[in-house]
Amino acid sequence: MLELMERLAAERLGESSAAAAATALETFDLRGIAKHIERGGVKNVVVMTGAGISVSAGIPDFRSERGLYARLGEYDLPYPQAIFELGYFREKPEAFYKLAKDLYPGLYAPTPTHYFIKLLHDRGLLRRCFTQNIDSLECATGLPKDKVVAAHGNFDSAKCLNGHDANIYEVERACRAGTPMTCAKCGEFVKPDIVFFGENLPRRFFECAQKDFEVCDLLIVIGTSLVVHPFAGLIERPKEHVPRLLINLERCGEAQNTRVTKLYRMAGLGRGTGFDFDEATNYRDALFLGQCDDGVAELCSMLGWKDDLDALIANCTIKKRLQASKISN
Ligand code: OAD
Repeated sequence: MLELMERLAAERLGESSAAAAATALETFDLRGIAKHIERGGVKNVVVMTGAGISVSAGIPDFRSERGLYARLGEYDLPYPQAIFELGYFREKPEAFYKLAKDLYPGLYAPTPTHYFIKLLHDRGLLRRCFTQNIDSLECATGLPKDKVVAAHGNFDSAKCLNGHDANIYEVERACRAGTPMTCAKCGEFVKPDIVFFGENLPRRFFECAQKDFEVCDLLIVIGTSLVVHPFAGLIERPKEHVPRLLINLERCGEAQNTRVTKLYRMAGLGRGTGFDFDEATNYRDALFLGQCDDGVAELCSMLGWKDDLDALIANCTIKKRLQASKISN
């Protein structure tokens, strides 16, 4: 089997290396990505985001030392993921409603990273933002809803555990109070349409992924540990010549360095493997390790977009409103 793959790899090598050479990064860092954008061929950027992009807004991520999953005492969970499990929700919906109270849209302002995504849209470069976050801060920047795929759902709609639609204004009141709500029809607990472990992702996730990665010419992944599937698998969907950038505090999503994955990478067989930052075979994966707000600011400076980013951030009306309400309290 490996011999056959090696032969195929050798045959495909000429073809794929030509495609890769056309888009290969000069350097595997922000500078390399900036140069790639400046060449002018980038028109369909796909952004993938996770909890890290909302940390500077004041929302903890999940798996960091001070993340939500480390605050078990505060949430009274038997084990971290229970907060997103149906079985536990059925028994003790209070933990999820406490999270809903802390996270409900309107309490936090978008971060510079959220505005970077808006800036990509304003420049006509954003194909889609796939987010795992349920805080809806992407759209709080003014980004149109159709540009966002809320892969793990959000608070825009809700149903009881028997599937009856719930009145969203009543759900909002319950979430803001942190008090579990029950269905008027059957008495079951009502759950905002957040995707719990074991539940299917919204159909739109799969539909958009199928179309978007056909045309994606740059993938930017920001603030996620890339451990939750199927979301994490999206990094393998861009075509094999398409550059990918990871902006994160830690490395993640890297391909296992086996003989088979090396062959796949060399030959461009199939779409993909995880990131390949260090290998001699890398031609398209760039890495910025650090705070995401710093990473996007640096990238914008390199592209001459920094004034535009700063203007978007300065005009953030939600931040002004939140600051004003803090002063008056
Ligand atoms: P995680 O908490 O797993 O990962 C957050 C990542 O962001 C980590 O790699 C951090 O190092 C990084 N990070 C934190 N702050 C950062 C910063 N300021 N700048 C750059 N990077 C930073 O969160 P997710 O990957 O989003 O599921 O978690 C995925 C899913 O797991 C969530 O959607 C949630 C959870 O169970 C549901 O809500 C259903």
